[in-house]
Amino acid sequence: MVSGSLLAGNIGQLVTNEPERDGLLGEIGNAAVAVVDGHVAWLGSATEIPAEWLDLPQLDCGGAAVLPGFVDAHTHLAFAGDRADEFGRRLRGESYEDLMAAGGGIQSTVAATRAATAGDLLATTMPRVERMLRAGTTTVEIKSGYGLDLETELRLLGAIAAIDDSLEIDAIPTFLGAHTVPPEFAGDGDGYVAHLIEEILPACAPYARFCDVFCDEGVFTVEQARRILLAGRQRGLEPRLHANQLAASGGARLAADLGAVSADHLDHIDDADVDALRAAGVVAVLLPGVSFSLRLPQAPGNDLWDAGVTVALATDCNPGTSNIETMPFVIALACLEMGLSPERAIWSATRGGALAVGLEDRGRLTPGALGDLVVLAHPSYVHLAYRPDAPPVRAVIKRGELVAGSA
Ligand code: NIG
Ligand code: FE
Repeated sequence: MVSGSLLAGNIGQLVTNEPERDGLLGEIGNAAVAVVDGHVAWLGSATEIPAEWLDLPQLDCGGAAVLPGFVDAHTHLAFAGDRADEFGRRLRGESYEDLMAAGGGIQSTVAATRAATAGDLLATTMPRVERMLRAGTTTVEIKSGYGLDLETELRLLGAIAAIDDSLEIDAIPTFLGAHTVPPEFAGDGDGYVAHLIEEILPACAPYARFCDVFCDEGVFTVEQARRILLAGRQRGLEPRLHANQLAASGGARLAADLGAVSADHLDHIDDADVDALRAAGVVAVLLPGVSFSLRLPQAPGNDLWDAGVTVALATDCNPGTSNIETMPFVIALACLEMGLSPERAIWSATRGGALAVGLEDRGRLTPGALGDLVVLAHPSYVHLAYRPDAPPVRAVIKRGELVAGSA
């Protein structure tokens, strides 16, 4: 794991997310940040840098905007195969649910992933993560869930651990054995849930931090999801949920009942769901790339923000519903398609993401926080939506080390 020291200077616009500073993003103009041994030691105006930091290796940010590293709190990026064919069929008129019911969708990626060796899986997955890192993601949550049997779920969690070990990105593993019912249990969802709880979950739990369930119409019911998430909690895995993506299926309420860390998707929610999420302190993880890719209406991001729910943004990178890898593109979608202000979008992609994976030490720049920074290729964060197809990032710093680009 890298751990470096540097003084990033000539920052035109610094986003700190420090609540005691002005505005949602706690911005500082003409700023500098000192990182020592991987953690922020000081930040403030470039005209007032204390002498003790002037000997650190200096990184000239060229007047660009600098943000905390992006935290992508919801991905399924460990998979084999490709679903361009299905994507084309959708654009010709078939629905995601039709394709899923016909054995396509998640099942076809499960078949390809089961057939992939550990080496194949890493060979296809690592380049995705490298592209994410180059686009400013310094922490990424990755779910299993394209195995759905003990051996393949373990192989996926092994791939996530290998990513965490070998790339300069923190990979947070989530066990999603309840992504769908695998073909060998077709028509017997309860049978699969029992097998999952008794056999797969106990073996996988040591390698994951969270347990997730796709709780929705045609997938797992609220009752099944509750059983799985409680069993996960007994094994030390905090719950999170795919909730209310396809229908108003009760997942958001379950997330609130269980005090889950997050409820994700939330395309079909009402005011009572919003109140329940806020009261329970559940982070709403919104995935604008999914609605964009499926050509569906966006989740009500501003309603959640207005109600005081903590909102995160994530790519949901997966082969079916959002083959999108980078947070700058998600931020552009959140502004242009979901209607969030640039400030809400940036906060949700940084601090909101960190809270959605339960990590207090990142997603903001404050003394003691991780020295994870993204130097934009722009003078302001507004440019991420204003120039959505321009290369967004100039350099990425992980724990005080320059790990991508150059300044
Ligand atoms: O988050 N909703 C469930 N899982 C993914 C889709 C997975 C797939 O289609 O392969 C999602 O959208
Ligand atoms: Fe997902």
